Amino acid sequence: MKYHVLEDYYELSDKLEVVLTPEQIEERVWEMGRAISADYAHVTKGEDAEKHSLLLIGLMKGVIMFMADLMRTITIPVEVDFMRTASRTSAAADIGLMELQYRPSLPTSVTNRHIIFVEDIIDKGLMLNHALRTLRLFNPASLEVCTMFEKPTFRLIDTPVKYKGFDLPHKFVVGYGLDYREKYRNLPFLAALRTERQ
Ligand code: IMP
Ligand code: MG
Repeated sequence: MKYHVLEDYYELSDKLEVVLTPEQIEERVWEMGRAISADYAHVTKGEDAEKHSLLLIGLMKGVIMFMADLMRTITIPVEVDFMRTASRTSAAADIGLMELQYRPSLPTSVTNRHIIFVEDIIDKGLMLNHALRTLRLFNPASLEVCTMFEKPTFRLIDTPVKYKGFDLPHKFVVGYGLDYREKYRNLPFLAALRTERQ
């Protein structure tokens, strides 16, 4: 894939500072895909393989780029599904009031499946905790977490993360699927954003 560089993003480049290049991201995603393929190779064997195959479940919309890249690096049979978590307001998000808008659809039901819950970024961990609690209600065969980014500084809920791309300093970042007011998701790199709020 051929990527634009920061300077190509008209009127944006002065607001952004590149934190990770597309190449750094690509390399790390490749390693994560290889690890997942090796760790889950056993679930694709045996009589129950069909109904126990690996299922990646992502949280829209931030995870789109990571999911698209990650699934292309996995070399065992795999399925994908998505959920959507909407915070009613950002104040509500701060106290963990979130609503799961979509549940995994029935054809790719969670029950008895090996699930990897795929996240773009974990900050306080509230979103993750809420999603995992919901998934556990469907009795998966196993449930692990894979996140591209984590900002460990303000983690409130300590959920184990099996696969992690990068730890980040506590800065607001955009790009590679992450947004600020729905903008910047298209950037192929991860950038720190200088906003009026900061
Ligand atoms: P938390 O872990 O419950 O705090 O929520 C994590 C969610 O907040 C992520 O899924 C993102 O949607 C959003 N988020 C947290 N930090 C950032 C950031 O630096 N840039 C963009 N979105 C972020
Ligand atoms: Mg998100």
